[in-house]
Amino acid sequence: MATLLFLVLALACAARTSHGAQLLLTTNNTLGGERVRGTPMTMKLTTDENYLTVTFSAPYIKPTGGSWDSDWDRVHLFLADDSHKLSELRFTETGPLLRLYWAPYNMIKTLSPGEDAKFEGSTTVDRMRLTGTAKVHRSLLPPRITLVNAASVHPVNASTTELQYDNLYSITNYGIALPDLMVLARYKAIGARFLFDNDDSYSEHWKRND
Ligand SMILES: *[C@@H]1O[C@H](CO)[C@@H](O)[C@H](O)[C@H]1NC(C)=O
Ligand SMILES: *[C@@H]1O[C@H](CO)[C@@H](O)[C@H](O)[C@H]1NC(C)=O
Repeated sequence: MATLLFLVLALACAARTSHGAQLLLTTNNTLGGERVRGTPMTMKLTTDENYLTVTFSAPYIKPTGGSWDSDWDRVHLFLADDSHKLSELRFTETGPLLRLYWAPYNMIKTLSPGEDAKFEGSTTVDRMRLTGTAKVHRSLLPPRITLVNAASVHPVNASTTELQYDNLYSITNYGIALPDLMVLARYKAIGARFLFDNDDSYSEHWKRND
């Protein structure tokens, strides 16, 4: 029953036409499996023939007093293919970053907006929300994306430095110490031609420099 409901919700939030696709993601649950209180992170992915455009609005909590690092309030989008190549868009109040991985944690490249003309974006903080947008050319993404995850990370509340991980899956039954946003087996599945309908192979960006 839960699976059926999930499928219905997932289908209601995803649409594809011959010109591109739209996917809506809401991180209503924490990585630990609890319901997120307040307005959760919502993210919209749209594609045309060549570009992925991402927009989001996420909780932004800055603890009052004590230490705070701008990296604590952040948003991630992970897009992976079947051979575990992965692009990660990572947004903080200082802006977005794009990272390419060869298997989880094995980073090939990091790009800032403007460093490559095919990646741009920005973020804004306003009234306890971090919002942002990014536009990424498909050559900076794996050619046939089949797996998706999104997360919003922020302090639990303004009086603590403890971080909360709002995510598309939970890992409550895992014996894992650190929050792990790269459990590909738990990612949301999409069709290989859903975001971009073409026969691309890996661009030069996916060559390892080691
Ligand atoms: C997430 O929660 C919001 C309300 O906070 C609700 O409108 C939305 O339908 C929920 N989405 C999912 C996928 O459960
Ligand atoms: C803030 O979060 C901390 C850590 O989870 C919790 O102990 C505390 O009760 C919370 N404070 C408020 C005001 O909700």
